[in-house]
Order: sequence, then C-alpha cells, then structure tokens
Amino acid sequence: MNNTFDFGVVGLGVMGRNFILNVAEKGFTAFGHDLDEAKVDSLLNECGNNQDIGASANVKTFVNSLSLPRKIMLLVPAGKTVNIVIECLLPHLDPDDIIIDGGNSFFRETDKREEYLKAKGIHFFGAGISGGAKGARLGPSLMPGGSKDAYNLVQPIFEAVAAKFQGEPCVAYLGPKSAGNYVKMVHNGIEYALMQLISEAYNTLKVYGDYSNPELNDLFIKWNRGRLQSFLMEITSRILIKKDNQDDGYLVDRIMDKAKQKGTGKWTSQNAMDLGIPVPSIDIAVSMRELSAMKEEREKASRFYKSKVVNKNDKNELEKMVEEALYFGFVIIYAQGFHQLAIASEEYSYELDLCSIAKIWRAGCIIRAGLLEDISNAYAKNDKLSHLLFDTTFIDAIKPVVESVRSLVSQSVKNGIPLPGLSNSLTYFDAFKSSRLPLNLIQAQRDYFGSHGYERTDMEGIFHTEW
Ligand code: 6PG
Repeated sequence: MNNTFDFGVVGLGVMGRNFILNVAEKGFTAFGHDLDEAKVDSLLNECGNNQDIGASANVKTFVNSLSLPRKIMLLVPAGKTVNIVIECLLPHLDPDDIIIDGGNSFFRETDKREEYLKAKGIHFFGAGISGGAKGARLGPSLMPGGSKDAYNLVQPIFEAVAAKFQGEPCVAYLGPKSAGNYVKMVHNGIEYALMQLISEAYNTLKVYGDYSNPELNDLFIKWNRGRLQSFLMEITSRILIKKDNQDDGYLVDRIMDKAKQKGTGKWTSQNAMDLGIPVPSIDIAVSMRELSAMKEEREKASRFYKSKVVNKNDKNELEKMVEEALYFGFVIIYAQGFHQLAIASEEYSYELDLCSIAKIWRAGCIIRAGLLEDISNAYAKNDKLSHLLFDTTFIDAIKPVVESVRSLVSQSVKNGIPLPGLSNSLTYFDAFKSSRLPLNLIQAQRDYFGSHGYERTDMEGIFHTEW
C-alpha cells in the first residue's frame, strides 16, 4: 500500500464517507481514515472489491497510502478536533503536503492554522462545503480559499466532485487565507435568514388564510416553479406534507418550536458588527432561534398577553402578498450577505469575486436559488456594484412588490403576530432608501453629553457646541 491514492479523507462520518464515494465515482482513488474501526469497516464493506477506495484506522497506513504531495481533506467537527487531527497527521507528513479543512471552521482559526502549518512546510486551506450529506455524495457546492498553488493541485478533483449548474462546476478558488471559510460562514448567515423568512410565510398563510398542510404544499410547489425557486422552498413543500408515523397528523405540526444552532449564523452577525455592516435580516434570524428556545417563558407570557387575530384574508389576495413578500425578503437577504462579502473582501484582502460566488451557489448548496442567476448577472455587468439594490434588474423587481410587504407587516403588527424577518428586511430597505435619517439628533445628543463632535450638512469640519 505505497503512496498511490489520489485523495485522503479524515473523518468517516456521513459527510466523509459520502465524499469518498463521490471522489471515487469520478475516476480518482480515495483513502479514508477514522479512529473508529466500525466506521472504517462499514466503508470497506460498502465498497466491496472496489480498488479505488481504501480505508484504515491507522494513521500511518492512511498517510502512506496517499500519493505525494498528499491531499488530505478533514471532514471532522469544527473546533478543537481539527487541531487534534492536524497534530496526529503532522509527524507523518512531508513538505508540500496539503491539508484541507472541509468543516464549518471559524475563519480566524483557519488563518491561525494556515500560519502554523506554513512554518512547517505544509499547505493548509479551508474549503466550505455546502449541501449536507446528500450534497457530499452527489455534488456539493465547494468554497475553497488559501494558497492558490495548493488549490491548483486539488482543483481537478474538486471540479469533478462539485455540483454542476448547466455543466459548470459549483466550485471556484475564492481568495487567499480564510476566504473559503468566510464565504461559507456568510452562506450560512443567508441560510438562517431565508429559513426564518420562509417560516414566517408558512405561519402567515396558516394564521390569516387557514391553509391546510396539503394546500401549503401545493402553494410552495407552485411558487418553487417561479421566481422563488430554491432548494429551501422545495424541501419546505415536502416537509409540510410528511405524515407523522405516530398518528395520522403531519410531522411538522408535532415538532417542538425551538430551533437549535451550531453558531455559523451568529458568527456572520458578530463579524458584520465588527465590520460595521448592517445585516439585520441575519441578526434577527439568529435572535429568533434564541427566542424560540425560551419556550417556558413564551408559554407563560402568552397567558398574560393574549392576542386575537382579527384579520382574515381572501386566499388569492393573501397568496399574492406572501409571494411578493417572500421575493422581497429573498432579495434583501442576499443583498445584505453580498454587501458583507464585499466589505469583508476589502478588510481582509480576500479579493472576492462576487459574480463567481453567486455562480457557485447556483447548485449544490443549501441557499441555491433561481435568484442567484440574477445576482451573478448583476455582478457580471458591474463588478464594482456596491449593493445589489442598485442593480436595475432588482430596482425594477423590488418596486412593485414593496406595497405587499407593507400590508403584511402592518397587518401583523395590528394582530400581534410576529413577522420579524420580513419587518426587519422592510425597515432595512426603508432606511437604506432614506436620504435623510434622524441620526442627526443622535449626533447632537452625543455632543451634548460627551462632547463627541458632529459634522454639519452645510460646512466641512468637526464641530462642538456648548449645549
Ligand atoms: C450546509 C449547511 C450545513 C449545516 C449548517 C446547520 O451548507 O450544508 O449550512 O453547514 O446544515 O451548519 O447549521 P445550524 O445547525 O447552525 O442550523
């Protein structure tokens, strides 16, 4: 077993195992490693006599099976496990070997690891992978960053295994250092916000239109054929009519309304704050998961502050409003995410190509959506576009739908039914398009109590007043 396999994977959980099967299916040889013998055996049993796949629980056997320079992908939980695996591999590696972290690692950790390993002659880069277990097997969207030279050696394998959008692989070299992990982090922030918005649409239809689950399923299927076409709309339509195996109801109605999170959406919000970029649609999606977890308090409060839905809508009218509101919300969410990417690119010298990011998100990943075609076109037309809301396609598409958003938000405010994702997106839009905001008063207050100074609209300079 001497240095013949093209690609190595550490971590034979469902992602690692599926990734190996995908690599081998595309004509490369792949070798897996996991300390858990059962996982190794299970992969080997599944592969039978397939000579293109090997696996071992022994790290030396694993490393000695890979061709030089070694290309090793880590598909292990983000966090300290990545460091532990790196330390286990290190004594067995040769200069110029490549380690790729395929997990949702925090981008600053990736920068530290790259520096640390560079000093030892090892290339290290992060490659965000989106698409879940199915994506890993059938074609994920891959978001690699780091050393370009190292990436070039992996490129043929990545392009072969990635999802394809009209024949184009959903992978591109994104930039130096942690660019890959950063882009994946923002992908997840967008994912959180889209999920929040869709959950609000589902609730709105139920509350104001008394839609049954099969009716909702029909509607989501219909919408998924139009401008809302996306993976998340598609799976939502399926989820809505999945029967519960405990009784004859629907499973979604039995699921506890407490959403968990692993932290990538929160990182997106935190980093946006650090960079001074407003992404309120993502922030509120994170907060809503946190608020959802306060189940006991919510139940208690619901007894004190009862609200009664007074408005009901005609189904046709409601469908039109919700479809338009979803479209509006989708655009605002992607606009915020891409704005964050643009500013982060300057701040961290990633040199991100936003058009190419929109392209590699068109298939394979969780936020894949028809809308990404318009987004990639917007950046292809103008690679200096500072915000998606300045693109003429979006100006023309957004203007006619804003009224529906206002109606839905005001109806929800009147009825006491929360619509936080949509209303935050609307507020962001309204503030973004206000040439004058009342923040002049905040500047005056700051100067009043703290002598912080202010700028004037009619003169250059910084001024202070003894109020
Ligand atoms: C993907 C997903 C994936 C994972 C999320 C879930 O792109 O394939 O984003 O990375 O499902 O991390 O995140 P939460 O557990 O935080 O919802």
